[in-house]
Amino acid sequence: MINTQISAFAADVFEGLASTPRRLSSKWFYDERGDALFQQIMGMPEYYLTDCELEIFQTAGPELLDAIGNRSFDLIELGAGDGTKTQFLIEQFLAAGANFTYRPIDISAHAIEILGNLIRRRWPTLPFKPVQDDYFSALDRLGKSQGDHLRLVLFPGANIGNFAPEEAVQFLRHLRKFLREDDLLLVGFDLKKDPAIILAAYNDPAGYTAAFNLNLLRRINEELGADFRLDQWKHWETYNPVSGATRSYLVSLADQSVRLPDYGRRFRFDVWEPIEVEISQKYNRPEIEAMLQQAGFTFLRHLEDSRGYFSDALARV
Ligand SMILES: C[S@@+](CC[C@H](N)C(=O)[O-])C[C@H]1O[C@@H](n2cnc3c(N)ncnc32)[C@H](O)[C@@H]1O
Repeated sequence: MINTQISAFAADVFEGLASTPRRLSSKWFYDERGDALFQQIMGMPEYYLTDCELEIFQTAGPELLDAIGNRSFDLIELGAGDGTKTQFLIEQFLAAGANFTYRPIDISAHAIEILGNLIRRRWPTLPFKPVQDDYFSALDRLGKSQGDHLRLVLFPGANIGNFAPEEAVQFLRHLRKFLREDDLLLVGFDLKKDPAIILAAYNDPAGYTAAFNLNLLRRINEELGADFRLDQWKHWETYNPVSGATRSYLVSLADQSVRLPDYGRRFRFDVWEPIEVEISQKYNRPEIEAMLQQAGFTFLRHLEDSRGYFSDALARV
């Protein structure tokens, strides 16, 4: 029997496992162990995304401040993680005497805690208002921008790639509703490139990505009392250069069933049946510009790394 206390996590897992094809949302990857595994992924030579965006953030400060003008602003960051890259922007903003409040949003309690420790240690007087929640619930709580200061919304890490392209436009449209004229948006997009480079970033020989994806099943066991057998699932990665989508699957190695006690339900899996656990969509520059325009933003420019692998696209409402 379904009781009313079932968490959003349980509801999402139930819905994903009951759908065809089966899927689990990548937003649940990040518990404490998931955060630690993601740190290891970011440190791998194959995972170019972090290095590229770090390179961009190390020099993007003046350009962003230029776009902001002399106004005070809220720096809202969606899916902030541990703030490794954003601290470079904050450093440049503070050095330039900018007046802003940092409002990171992340669904992971652990990420918000690590980030809070970092910010309070480095900049104890920086106005800091973290929110631990899903992007949209957090934006609902913030409401529409008010007063005469601007909002600069950061959506880094190519997190937008975790939506299919049509969902990404809807996401940006929805985000647009919380913003006013002149507010700014900086979104990190992973650019289309040699498929071998892309695939290697999600299919590392050390097995960190496999461990990261399997950790989702462990989390479901631990928090929802399910009985996934972790050794009966295999990580499988694909990149389709036509669609630009990287997709991560966990593939069942046996005929098996898994119990989800909150719903009093068993899910049967056939041998070789996949569960899709993540999409990481890659874009080219015109696709990014069109997407921002469709969502009601004026595209300003691409801030790119020296290899041209990654774009933080800057846009204005
Ligand atoms: C790939 S990590 C990126 C972290 C950091 N922005 C970076 O670029 O290194 C994604 C982060 O977004 C958070 N996240 C994913 N889906 C989310 C959602 N729907 N709402 C809020 N946070 C989310 C995760 O908890 C995680 O910390």
